Amino acid sequence: MKKIFKLAKIYEAIYKDKNYKLETSSVNKILSKNKKIKNILELGSGTGQHAKFLCNRGYSVQGIDSSKEMIANSLKIKNFKNNLGDIRYFNLNKKFDAAISLFHVFSYLNSNKDVISTLINVNKHLKKNSYFIFENLALYS
Ligand SMILES: C[S@@+](CC[C@H](N)C(=O)[O-])C[C@H]1O[C@@H](n2cnc3c(N)ncnc32)[C@H](O)[C@@H]1O
Repeated sequence: MKKIFKLAKIYEAIYKDKNYKLETSSVNKILSKNKKIKNILELGSGTGQHAKFLCNRGYSVQGIDSSKEMIANSLKIKNFKNNLGDIRYFNLNKKFDAAISLFHVFSYLNSNKDVISTLINVNKHLKKNSYFIFENLALYS
């Protein structure tokens, strides 16, 4: 794991001008097409900067992040839970309406095997016909 993620405060300072709100709007544009979507699984949730805007829009967000520091520095928001875990292996025994993974979380998966086990794991946690939105939403902005 990169050292920067052990330094959650520094991470947040570096990305303080990142437009989480705009990125979250792009996600909401897709998810809001299906009014049944309420519970979102977020892989590599960091401290919950995207979750903050999603919870404000009425979603519940369950985050998974492997950095103890990010989890310890998580925002305290209603309907947001952030758990320590590895996106390749976690098991919540629960299915979600949609999953997201934003801002280069997949860049830290270093092999095809890791990417495949993560995708299998996401699929295991999703209800049928749901969305998995991932990667850098700057593309939509
Ligand atoms: C670039 S940060 C993005 C964090 C957050 N999504 C954001 O936009 O601020 C990447 C995040 O992925 C997490 N991460 C990397 N590999 C992971 C893994 N295998 N399992 C869980 N989290 C992981 C890191 O701890 C870090 O919080």
